[in-house]
Amino acid sequence: MEKKERIDKILSMCGFGTRKDVKKIIKEGEVMVNGEVIKDAGYHVLPEVDEILVFGETLVFKRNIYIMLNKPKGVICATYDKKDKTVVDLLEGEYSHRNLFPVGRLDKDAEGLILLTDDGMLAHKLLSPKSKVFKEYYVEVEGYLTQEDILAFEKGIQLEDFKTQPAELTIIESNKVSKAKVKISEGKFHQIKRMFEALGKRVVYLKRTAIGALKLDSTLSPGEWRELTDEELKILKENVD
Ligand code: URA
Repeated sequence: MEKKERIDKILSMCGFGTRKDVKKIIKEGEVMVNGEVIKDAGYHVLPEVDEILVFGETLVFKRNIYIMLNKPKGVICATYDKKDKTVVDLLEGEYSHRNLFPVGRLDKDAEGLILLTDDGMLAHKLLSPKSKVFKEYYVEVEGYLTQEDILAFEKGIQLEDFKTQPAELTIIESNKVSKAKVKISEGKFHQIKRMFEALGKRVVYLKRTAIGALKLDSTLSPGEWRELTDEELKILKENVD
């Protein structure tokens, strides 16, 4: 939906600095809207419709931002923390001026796919228990994995406070430390660790590899991130519509 916004807010959202920095750029006559120089920072524009030039270059405005991040270990899924580094702290430039937040959580010691956005509606839909979006994980656990474990995941596992929905366990390698893939449609606190614990196995490594049809880009090293492509955003939205 097109919405009128103050030009200083739009420029700040697009990475031209704080409101104060932006006011200076506007005062200096560096901003044109539909062919006219604008010197009023409170001037209202339709950012998706009006032609906005800054320093002579056309501004490409994105109302929402969608980022995939490969969360490294030791970083927490929050927007701010006094002690720990957060996933938002890993972002730079124009992205630090947008109110981006992580959709859902991964434990501090887990790695992998985190979506960061300022699209509250999509976040709500993805997190809603109704949407049943599958999340995929790669895990390494202490102990041998068996056919019984696969069946237990399929049937749902009784934890202290609830019984899990049917989940999919695919064994990659059964060994003293086993490797596997897990698909779950819920996201309760420490869920995967608790599911394996209930079967007497301890998770020693956990990485989220997909949220619904959105797969973690394998070229992103831990700590790296990029915006979603239009195609990725489309398939993600299709998961919840
Ligand atoms: N399950 C867990 O135990 N931890 C996570 O971070 C995600 C799922």
